Amino acid sequence: MVAPAPLKPAVLWFTGLSGSGKTTIARDVRDRLLASGARVEYLDGDVIRSVFPETGFTKPERDAHVKRVGFLASRLEHHGVIVICALISPYAASRNYVRGLCRRFVEIHISTPLAECERRDVKGLYRRARLGQIGNFTGVQDPYEPPDAPELRIDTSDMSVQEAADRVMRALRGDDELAPIESVTRLGQHATNV
Ligand SMILES: Nc1ncnc2c1ncn2[C@@H]1O[C@H](COP(=O)(O)OP(=O)(O)OP(=O)(O)O)[C@@H](O)[C@H]1O
Ligand SMILES: [Mg+2]
Repeated sequence: MVAPAPLKPAVLWFTGLSGSGKTTIARDVRDRLLASGARVEYLDGDVIRSVFPETGFTKPERDAHVKRVGFLASRLEHHGVIVICALISPYAASRNYVRGLCRRFVEIHISTPLAECERRDVKGLYRRARLGQIGNFTGVQDPYEPPDAPELRIDTSDMSVQEAADRVMRALRGDDELAPIESVTRLGQHATNV
């Protein structure tokens, strides 16, 4: 039997509302990739924020957070790593900036509707936001700008974690469906000057 071709480096970027399922699916994908022997790094917005607690939630602060993590992800990707990032990353412009830094940027919109995320309220944050106890909460006081053309869109309302992770793995393997390397590299060269 012929061994499957090794997976190419890429940045798998999970974006979506709080509670949509980014971390849950991203961890499943990470575990599958690690089990396959791939070089993997997982960058979760919450973990990065715990290291840099001064990072706030205003638009400029969220944009800076996304750009920092995206830059780091792009450097790791250039060194042959499959990088998995899970951040709400609500603003299209900063996500597209990161796309420009990366060679293979796989944008995965976890599109679970607000009502379902709020019903789950895993961290109790929607309730606190509705009570006005926290501000700048995406989906309550602040907008979420959905990607126009993500490589993948997953609504977890009626899909298992396993099926969602299967889809991500298929997108990672399906090179031809992703943006041509040349155009992405050109953008990346421009963006690394910033
Ligand atoms: N198919 C599914 N995929 C992912 N999560 C699901 C699914 N079905 C139900 N869930 C549940 O939805 C919740 C998603 O929470 P999770 O922490 O992954 O969200 P998140 O997008 O990372 O949020 P945050 O931005 O606040 O970190 C979990 O409690 C998970 O068990
Ligand atoms: Mg999370």
